[in-house]
Amino acid sequence: MANQRATATAHANIAVVKYWGVADSALTLPYNESVSMNLDHCTTTTTVAFDGSLPADEVGIAWFGREMEEVTGQAYERVVAQLDRVRMRAGIEEWARVESANTFPADAGIASSASAFAALTTAAAGAAGLQLGEHELSILTRRSGSGSACRSIPPGFVHWRNDGTDAGSYAVSVAMPNDWALADVVAIVDTGPKSVGSAENHRLAVTSPYFKVRLQEVPARVNGCLRAIREHELATLGLIAEADAVSLHVVAMTAQPPTFYWRPGTLRVMQAVHDWRKEGFLSYWTMDAGANVHVLCAMSDAPAVAQRLEALPEVQFTITNGPGPGAYLHAE
Ligand code: DP6
Repeated sequence: MANQRATATAHANIAVVKYWGVADSALTLPYNESVSMNLDHCTTTTTVAFDGSLPADEVGIAWFGREMEEVTGQAYERVVAQLDRVRMRAGIEEWARVESANTFPADAGIASSASAFAALTTAAAGAAGLQLGEHELSILTRRSGSGSACRSIPPGFVHWRNDGTDAGSYAVSVAMPNDWALADVVAIVDTGPKSVGSAENHRLAVTSPYFKVRLQEVPARVNGCLRAIREHELATLGLIAEADAVSLHVVAMTAQPPTFYWRPGTLRVMQAVHDWRKEGFLSYWTMDAGANVHVLCAMSDAPAVAQRLEALPEVQFTITNGPGPGAYLHAE
């Protein structure tokens, strides 16, 4: 089946209840369930072409505003491992040329691995002739090692369910993108690389004495967020997102060895958002394993939030997102 190609697009996502801690690294099974929103302005588009004449897999990536670069080292190995899962499933042996393009900058602190592995898996499965539905695609994407990528497969607001088994750990939509005009305004305060990647910290989470406490708290947060999404309750969702982000960072800061992701700009934005709330201007923050802050607000308030954030000296730029679609294959 030489020369089979397909192109797919997937969106990054921001979690309001986060995945933190891996129970099974071989299958990427999390300890806890999580809830997220796909980001409509942060996408990865990937073309996979299986080609019998290639001597090995080739992987190129183009970041926003940059030329295509060849991917090497660990990042390359992770792509090859995911292609291997697809090849095994499809019963094919050809190597592939993979070309990926992101609509957001590499240094924006937006987890690019989620959109990258969701687009890669969707395109590779399509190119290999696999007819996978959303459920199977989210399981296959999860196994890539970037667990949060499984949440970029279904559209809109997404729940990563998990019963601790391979078949029972998958993502489903709980609301469509146009169900709720929620915005995520990303405030970039730090463009440097992460001090410690999430993969290592997923393994270290269990060394924090607060990890057990976090796991006890998460189910109520998941239920609270699912209800808040259904009922469009920004204040409920926002307060849960803030509590969950703090809990993740406390675990990271008290793991052995600890990681401190926050920077002065992170705290500046957190403080500003709290001050705005006191004035009655509703916005809430969350962060991933990094220093940049995602500010959640009503879409109608997003221009004002972006303007206020950009007025802070610590904020370099902002990216405004609404709820995004799921991963999809392009028509050839
Ligand atoms: C803090 O291992 O899924 O963003 O670190 O980007 O590879 P990468 O993703 P993954 O860890 C995600 C950790 C998180 C929380 C979340 O998105 O749920």
